[in-house]
Amino acid sequence: MPKKQTDDTRDYQNAKLRVEELRAQIAYHEHRYHVLDDPEIADGEFDKLTIELRAIEAQHSELITPDSPTQRVGGAPVETFGIVEHRVPLLSLNNAFDADGLRAWHKRASNIIERTDFAMICEPKIDGLACALVYEDGRLLTAATRGDGTRGENITQNVRTIRSIPQRITGTGLPARFEVRGEIYMTKSGFEKLNAERGKAGLPLFASPRNSAAGSVRQLDPKVTAARPLDAFWYQLGWQDGGREPATHWDVLQWLKKLNFRVNPSIQRFGTLDDVAAFCESWIERRDSLDYEIDGIVIKVDELALQRQMGAVGREPRWAIAYKFPPTQATTTLLAIQVNVGRTGTLNPFAVLDPVRIGGVTVKLATLHNEAVIHLKDVRVGDTVIVQRAGDVIPQVVGPVLSKRAANAKRFHMPTNCPVCRTPVVRGEGEVAVRCPNRQCPAQRFRLLEHFVSRGAMDIDGLGESIAFLLMERGFVQDGGDLYRLRERRDDLLAIDRFGEKSVDRLLASIDASKTRPLARVIVALGIRHVGGEVASVLATHFGSIDALIEAGIDQIVEIPGIGNVIAESVIEFFADDDSRALVEKLRAAGVNLRAEKGAAREGQLSGLTFVVTGHLERLSRDAAESLIKQYGGAVASSISKKTNYLVVGAEAGSKLEKAQKLGTTLLDEDAFAALLHENGIEI
Ligand code: IVH
Repeated sequence: MPKKQTDDTRDYQNAKLRVEELRAQIAYHEHRYHVLDDPEIADGEFDKLTIELRAIEAQHSELITPDSPTQRVGGAPVETFGIVEHRVPLLSLNNAFDADGLRAWHKRASNIIERTDFAMICEPKIDGLACALVYEDGRLLTAATRGDGTRGENITQNVRTIRSIPQRITGTGLPARFEVRGEIYMTKSGFEKLNAERGKAGLPLFASPRNSAAGSVRQLDPKVTAARPLDAFWYQLGWQDGGREPATHWDVLQWLKKLNFRVNPSIQRFGTLDDVAAFCESWIERRDSLDYEIDGIVIKVDELALQRQMGAVGREPRWAIAYKFPPTQATTTLLAIQVNVGRTGTLNPFAVLDPVRIGGVTVKLATLHNEAVIHLKDVRVGDTVIVQRAGDVIPQVVGPVLSKRAANAKRFHMPTNCPVCRTPVVRGEGEVAVRCPNRQCPAQRFRLLEHFVSRGAMDIDGLGESIAFLLMERGFVQDGGDLYRLRERRDDLLAIDRFGEKSVDRLLASIDASKTRPLARVIVALGIRHVGGEVASVLATHFGSIDALIEAGIDQIVEIPGIGNVIAESVIEFFADDDSRALVEKLRAAGVNLRAEKGAAREGQLSGLTFVVTGHLERLSRDAAESLIKQYGGAVASSISKKTNYLVVGAEAGSKLEKAQKLGTTLLDEDAFAALLHENGIEI
């Protein structure tokens, strides 16, 4: 046999084998995605399989069979729901991955109609599941999934639970029957909440809002669907019997809006491909600002007559294209699960990944939250995992690709000892996370120092992670309090390679500058568990000084509105610790501000008003009343003067009442005080 022919035969044989392999893989993954709602690979990986198959089929057209996945749409419908035959098939979309892809599509479309000046509509491509609604005499008759494009599942009862979908439509000139198409989706926030609840209940987590939406509409019990945060956008008129035929897609969208269908507000109409491409690219960044996932932009030719003229190739219309965003998911190997120790001692597991590029960024690490989440997702070291990056959020491990798991892969367990100081870890009652209880743990001390100097705390400029580490490693500081003694060791600092005169002096100056931070910032800087900026500011205003806070008993703290037992106990526990008290003393010795400034009251509904509270109140204690006033910006004085606006009087009031009567101060009994608060929008 001549050599050429042998090569060709071999090439053909290889192509045939690869095509069969790809089809089997695609069928498998489509089943997992569409039927089981439990995909094993990232969308981008799946796209790659299809792209490769198309490429081979393009070279060897004799290998194309009618049942090739390239020739049909979606997965098979599930019989249990009942089948709806689509009168007009639900089509699929061809993809473009960049501006060149868009240009190629535009050129093909222009060639058919011999025009380049047609208008186009750009719509966010919602990452949910397609749905077709049929209305008869203005009533919703059926709702169906896309299924394989010609036959879908009947999900009417479930779709009726989505509140934004009109059940009845009124209006003149309505077609007797018509079909509206769109996408059902789950909000991102709703998805997070749902998964958090499922996690608590020990149920398997959904991989994505899309899977979660698909799973939700295919519940056998509509009550389950009703409790899920689903919504929908509508973007197409499938067919109509009677009524006026629209001329453009834009008209269709306006008509849908008029009939109360939710139409995506970001849809725009453009006249040139350059504008279309700019719109598409602008959404790559903006997509994260939406509370629903979009995976691209769909571009449609506006004029319906032109759409008809362009027609379709197989199941893909020539009049539309999907511009797909760069994938935010990828698969890679989970090399190790490591654990770091946070500021309050919490052990945080994280994934060490075989570096992988996602959306233009190399991802090496991803969060794994805690042991319970690792078990729910069933992620194991050595697994091939799906990793996801969304906006500037820390990358996450979505889940493992179970088909690629090694037989000996072991479940992960949190270490029983702190990985840094080896102290046995503890787990608080009802808490998922474990903690290293040793406040001297070098890891905790370092995180605490980092926190002490951070923006929301003492805000010490020029003291980043690496310098903090260096200062601690070389024994210059044990905690934030030691920073204020660094000036005495200026010469030692200058001996460090990395430091020159200028940088040392700049550092010392910013440390000095931090001494005048408001009390609330100092309280934040101490790093008390559960005490962030808001709580610290309430505590500072209420107690007025660090000493009053240290002296406070648990009762005085829980009386403050908005502050519960957990916070109060944490504050008490913190100041009961010798090291914490030593830290406060170091700050005092250094001259750090430990009092709330006069008039530091926060802006609020009671700003500018001065109150005195006296006597025995029934509903609130006097302290609670006072702290409420302070919380909303009012001032509290201990004695009556001309400046006092109101005296709040309880039972058995004494001399203060007499003085107020003499001065003509407005008196408020408990009810009147409650009414005043109520008028100002403050409820007790
Ligand atoms: S138009 C030919 N518009 O994307 C018309 N589809 O990949 C095809 N999708 O099955 C549908 N948002 O589930 C269209 N604004 C939008 C869309 C959209 C999401 C989905 C839809 C469709 C799939 C095609």
